[in-house]
Amino acid sequence: MTTPDPPAAYAHREAHLFRIGLAPIDHKDWFEGPYGSADGDPATRKAAIFAGDPDLCWGETEGSRPAQGEALTLVAEHLGVTPQADLPPLHAAALLVEDDLCLMERRGGEWTLSAASLCAPSFFSAKSVVGKSLAGLHGPVTGFGERLLPRVDRIFTHLADDQLVERRNWSVVSSGELFLPDERAVRSRQSEITPDMAGARLFVRMERQTLRRLPDTGALLFTIRIWRHPLSALRDRPERLSAFARAWDLVMTDDGEAFRNYKQLGPLDPLVRSFLAEALASA
Ligand code: HEM
Repeated sequence: MTTPDPPAAYAHREAHLFRIGLAPIDHKDWFEGPYGSADGDPATRKAAIFAGDPDLCWGETEGSRPAQGEALTLVAEHLGVTPQADLPPLHAAALLVEDDLCLMERRGGEWTLSAASLCAPSFFSAKSVVGKSLAGLHGPVTGFGERLLPRVDRIFTHLADDQLVERRNWSVVSSGELFLPDERAVRSRQSEITPDMAGARLFVRMERQTLRRLPDTGALLFTIRIWRHPLSALRDRPERLSAFARAWDLVMTDDGEAFRNYKQLGPLDPLVRSFLAEALASA
């Protein structure tokens, strides 16, 4: 199997800022990387999470089934597969891909999360987000409402039927798990990590998100794919190691304050710097 190698989400000039950063992509690149990666078959992985606590990973609102059905048809056609027929359509679609799937519909004048399958969430859960508007979803993101919301709302409203866009973000977290609904459980283990463990216990966590219109219902399908690796993996990639070191420096500047505080990166600084000092010296 080829090793998935997505672009490094921190390797750009504004790696320390909240940004929209949407770029057009080709339809053939809708889903990224091989299906069934080191995380195993997505259907099996997701079914196990669903069996554990369905409310954390799945939610739908009344009236979302037509758009769910359209999403399922589009995903199944794209992959050339036949989906399971006995599940809510968006749930069935999510079992076919690594990505989490979120359906956005215009409700009461606002783009609203009408259904979602979330098996690799970064500190949120289906029960905490399904039914929320774009503004509500991004309440905790500093400055989103004033700076980004009007533009994101316009993009959602005007995205052409045949246009697909993607964006990427990144963070560092002290867990390599995919399913991270609960921030407190992860943060509470951070104090156990000593500088010599940082390379193995801290993970660069990157999200690749795509957005696509469902032309019949006018809804939007938002996909989220998580890529992550331990900091130590950067030792084998000198160009990524230096890009990461540069991004980390930016995050720790005054300009990076909102990004740093939102992602709670400040407390990780001594650990990350200790790893970087040693890795850069031996690069
Ligand atoms: C494509 C347009 C979107 C943009 C530009 C955007 C932007 C952002 C940004 C800047 C953040 C902060 C973390 C980061 O990415 O660095 C964020 C967090 C988040 N976004 Fe979005 N977002 C978009 C769409 C969506 C959609 C469709 C959903 C629906 C599920 C969503 C759900 C969230 C959630 C749940 C968070 C975490 C908020 C928290 O900390 O509680 N976003 N988004």
